[in-house]
Amino acid sequence: MLYIGIDLGTSAVKLLLMDGEGEIKRIVSRKYPLYFPHPGWSEQMPEDWFARSMEGIRELTAECEKSEVAGISFGGQMHGLVALDKDDAVIRPAILWNDGRTGEETDYLNQVIGKEKLSAYTANIAFAGFTAPKILWMKKHEPDNFARIAKIMLPKDYLAYKLSGTFCTDMSDASGMLLMDVKNRRWSGEMMDICGITEEMLPRLYESFQVVGTLKPELARELGLSPEVKIIAGAGDNAAAAVGTGTVGDGMCNISLGTSGTIFISSREFKVDEHNALHSFAHSDGNYHLMGCMLSAASCNKWWNEEILKTADFAAEQAAIDKLGENNVFFLPYLMGERSPHNNPDARAMFIGMSMDTTREDMTQAVLEGVAFGLRDSLEVARSLGISIGCTKICGGGAKSPLWKKIIANVMDMKVDVIESEEGPALGGAMLAAVGCGEYPDVETIAAKVVKVAGTVEPEPLLVKKYEERYQKFRKIYPAVKEVF
Ligand code: XUL
Repeated sequence: MLYIGIDLGTSAVKLLLMDGEGEIKRIVSRKYPLYFPHPGWSEQMPEDWFARSMEGIRELTAECEKSEVAGISFGGQMHGLVALDKDDAVIRPAILWNDGRTGEETDYLNQVIGKEKLSAYTANIAFAGFTAPKILWMKKHEPDNFARIAKIMLPKDYLAYKLSGTFCTDMSDASGMLLMDVKNRRWSGEMMDICGITEEMLPRLYESFQVVGTLKPELARELGLSPEVKIIAGAGDNAAAAVGTGTVGDGMCNISLGTSGTIFISSREFKVDEHNALHSFAHSDGNYHLMGCMLSAASCNKWWNEEILKTADFAAEQAAIDKLGENNVFFLPYLMGERSPHNNPDARAMFIGMSMDTTREDMTQAVLEGVAFGLRDSLEVARSLGISIGCTKICGGGAKSPLWKKIIANVMDMKVDVIESEEGPALGGAMLAAVGCGEYPDVETIAAKVVKVAGTVEPEPLLVKKYEERYQKFRKIYPAVKEVF
C-alpha cells in the first residue's frame, strides 16, 4: 500500500509518497505566501494551505496506482491559531508559531496567572508563539472576531478537517497550545477558563497514529482516490520529524534545521524542566519529549543569502569557508525574537566583532555558527537537567549543508547521524499513516524498520575546544545587549 505524508511548513507544503516498506516514491512541494503585516507579526491563509495541499496530492499521485493509496497523515507547523466560525469560515488569517505580538498576554499568563500554575496545569509556561496567548490577544484586540469563534484548531488540523470533516488534533501538537494537560493527555479545564473558551471549541484529542476518519467522498472523486483512504491525526512537525529520523522511545535526540531550529529529546517518562525553558510535550509515539525551539534557524541563512547578499547559491557562499572555530564575528540569530531559552519576542539579530579585515565568508560563517550556538543554549538546559546526549540525528533544509552539520557536531560536541532522507516531518507523517492503517503495529517498530543512518559526522577534539571557547563568549552577548531590544 502507499502512504502520503504532508509536511505543512511555513514556507511551503511538502508532500511525500511512501510504500509499505518505507521506500520514498515521490516528493513534491508547493509554496505559499507568508505575511508580516507588522514587525514581529507572522500570518498565513489557511485556505492557501488547503489549496496547495490538494494540488500537491494530485501531482504526488499522478503516476502511482491510485487505488494503492491507503492513508494520509501530517506533520504541521505548530502553535498557529486557526479560528473558524459556525459556518466553518476562516475568521482571520492564522497567527503563526513565530508571531511575536502577544508580549502582553504572555506576561499576563506568566506573571499574573503565574508560571507555577501554568506549569501545574499544562507542564509548560507561556511563550509568545503558543496558542493560548494568541486567543487572549484576539479576545482583547479583535472582540468581534473572538465572539465568532466556533472552532479553534492548529494548522495541520485544518487540513485534516477539510479532508475528513473530523474536528481533531493530536497530543503532540495540542501540547503546544498551552491548553492541554500534557502529563494526563487531556484538555485543561483551568486553561479553558483562563482563555474564556469551552471544550466544544477545541478539537477532539487523538494519538498521532490514530485514524480520525476517511477522505470525504467528493474530494476522493476529485483526486481520483478511494473514499476508503484513511486520515490519520498526524503530529506537530517536530514530533513528526522525530518519527522520520527514528527519534522515538527513550533518550534519543533530533535537531531540526528548518525555518525554526529545534532540539528534540524523546523520553518514555513525562519530565518537566523546573525552569520551563524547554517545552515538555507529548510525543507522537505515545510517549513524551523535551524540546528547545529557536525561532530563526535556516531562515537566518536564507535571509543572509537572499535578502542581504542577493544570492540563491547558498553552497557557493559556504564553499570558501575554511577556518572553522576561528571567526572573530558573532551573529545573534534572533531575527523573529527568540523562544528557547530567552523567551523574548523583542530580541533581535545582530552581528558583532567585525574589523576592517572581516570578509563576506566570516559573516556567512558567523550566521551558521550563531544558529549552532543558539541550539547549544537549549542543549545546556538539557544537560543541566542531568540528560546526557552523545549523539543526535539531524533533518530539515539546513541539514543539506555538510559544513553546517560539521559546525553543529563540534559546537555541540555530539556525533551527528545523518539519515538517508532529511525529509523529517513529511516522512514521519507517512510513517504515522502506515501505523494508522495497520501496516505496522506501532511507531517504534516502523522507525526501526524504515529509518536508515547513511553516515555520521564526528566531533573533532581540536575544533570542539575552539568552539567551546567561542560559545563561552557567545553566551555573554545576549545578556549584555538585551536592554537595547
Ligand atoms: C516548535 C515551533 C516550530 C514550528 C515550526 O515549538 O514553534 O518548530 O513548529 O514549524
